[in-house]
Amino acid sequence: MQTLRSRRLATRARLARYGWVGLLTMLLAACHTDMYSQPRYQPYEPSSFFADGRSSRPNVPGAVAAGQVQTDTYLYTAKVNGVVGNVMPFPVTANLLARGQQQFTIYCSVCHGVAGMGQSIVAERASIVPANFHQQRLRDVPIGHFFDVITNGVYRSDPVKGGYQSMFSYASRIKVEDRWAIAAYIRALQLSQNATVDDVPPAERAKLGR
Ligand code: HEC
Repeated sequence: MQTLRSRRLATRARLARYGWVGLLTMLLAACHTDMYSQPRYQPYEPSSFFADGRSSRPNVPGAVAAGQVQTDTYLYTAKVNGVVGNVMPFPVTANLLARGQQQFTIYCSVCHGVAGMGQSIVAERASIVPANFHQQRLRDVPIGHFFDVITNGVYRSDPVKGGYQSMFSYASRIKVEDRWAIAAYIRALQLSQNATVDDVPPAERAKLGR
């Protein structure tokens, strides 16, 4: 007489012997190709359908991706006829300066320092010299120069290696409006190091005595 235990063992052995049949059935049932293999071209694959032999269609001249139209040249380049301008393309508000401060702290302070003095751990440890924003030349440049530098980076020629980039472009990382916000904040930083008592609102002046 079979015990419960030996019956269980027999079931297990049968499963091991014939289980693959069930598995195969399930696998084969999943092999439907309807949506998976659609006719398509590989990238750059030639096509006899179009007269020029290409399967990909070239962009329609003048086409602009949705939301990417750049009609305001100054906003996107800080330049008028190729020369950097000295005006903001939109009003400077306290909110904008706060945004500029935040973005500056994230992207620029690591090298230029939180006060823009060109002193930082990176400057100390690496063999680069980030610009000090309080030097006279940078106090005199138009505000558009900062937008331009953030957008295009700084290239210097190296007599040995030839041209090299000493500060990379942030165009892919910082949004256009934020680049302007940073430019405005740099102007505020410059003012902070060269302010007189007259620049302090009367209500705040009393605090200076302390
Ligand atoms: C990885 C370090 C690094 C970071 C981060 C960095 N810079 Fe620079 N920056 C430099 C260096 C190095 C120079 C000096 C380039 C030279 O003179 O060859 C420089 C130069 C400059 C100059 C002076 C350009 C001129 O007219 O000579 C400005 C303005 C400037 N950076 C702005 C910024 C702003 C704004 C940010 C943040 C968006 C930023 N930098 C982030 C390294 C950095």
